[in-house]
Amino acid sequence: MAQTYNPQLGREHSYPYEHREEERDYHWGMVINTNRCINCNTCSFACKSTWTSGEGEEYMWWMNVETEPYGGYPMGWDMRLLDDLEADQTIFDAADNGEKVHGYIAEKQAWEYPALGDDQVHGEYPEGEVVESDLENDEYHDIWQFYLPRLCNHCKNPACLAACPRKAIYKREEDGIVLLDQERCRGYRRCVKACPYHKPMYNPETGVTEKPVGCYPRIEEGNVPRCVSSCIGKTRLHGNINRGPDAGPAGGKSSAASGRSPINYLVHSDEKVALPLYPQFGTQPQVFYMPPYHVPPEFLTQMFTPNTEVKENEWPGDTYEESVRIVQERARNPSHEVLGILQLFGATTRLIETYNVKENRVKGWDRNGEKVVDVPIEEPMEVREGEQWTNQ
Ligand code: F3S
Repeated sequence: MAQTYNPQLGREHSYPYEHREEERDYHWGMVINTNRCINCNTCSFACKSTWTSGEGEEYMWWMNVETEPYGGYPMGWDMRLLDDLEADQTIFDAADNGEKVHGYIAEKQAWEYPALGDDQVHGEYPEGEVVESDLENDEYHDIWQFYLPRLCNHCKNPACLAACPRKAIYKREEDGIVLLDQERCRGYRRCVKACPYHKPMYNPETGVTEKPVGCYPRIEEGNVPRCVSSCIGKTRLHGNINRGPDAGPAGGKSSAASGRSPINYLVHSDEKVALPLYPQFGTQPQVFYMPPYHVPPEFLTQMFTPNTEVKENEWPGDTYEESVRIVQERARNPSHEVLGILQLFGATTRLIETYNVKENRVKGWDRNGEKVVDVPIEEPMEVREGEQWTNQ
């Protein structure tokens, strides 16, 4: 099998196709700030009503929100696969004889409860006592949970694409969105088995598989996906993950900002604050998460880092766990640049290609160089004169 360099792991591993995903001018990407997610599932229903409300699609939640550590749709999807992999082994390295990817098809029962484990916390409440946290002495809470929105990652090494013997799955040239050609599909379900995130789903009514489409019709018109525009918590920012610091002004217009996209800054700058979900699978997922800052880093390390002994250099700390602590702290006390970018989350339904943080304002431009957002970073505070109400 061909080898590919995986920057999320800092090493090469097997992948059936050679590619140059890092060199694409444009690649679909998303950053989700888990600290803002309230599990309202507005995103899930916006996605379902747009894409999967037909016959045979009843169980399909292309977008779902899980409560960590106990939630999961399908049930137990992550732990089951992690248990199969040896240290430093991707799902491609672990492929069984005659297969290109190691995976499994979740049983029917695993799909029966999309919200199993919702709001269940880690840790036990002391009986008969009020829960008090002693955060001055303990850095993290003993009792915790957080919400993890999950969707197709439009991976740079898609497992679904690698597994399909019909070559029915492809990456779009213009934006890297991974699509499934239903005319070519014969329902072999190798893609269903291969995707470690379990997002291609078989439709028993039509006999072919369906997979998330990255809201491509909206992207083509310069709009963000529906899960992004509908999010009431303003948890997400969508855009071009491949637009790095050397890029020229958007649309070639001198009036527009040049340089990296806001999500590229959050993921790839020296001030990295967003991490991929289970990069150890090896698929190079392109949805990145700002991890919750109240959760113990040991848990987050196995979920958002390669979680190996040897650490690749681009991570900020000496170990992966230390790196997670640094990223959590950056999210808790953001720099002015990150604070500025955080104001772009949910600020417009237009896709932001470039941005600029200057003094107290952050501005964004689309791919044509048109300004689409201009907002203050900190709202002015007005203190009223006169007597204040007091309960003393
Ligand atoms: Fe291929 Fe998946 Fe269809 S493996 S044939 S796209 S069910």
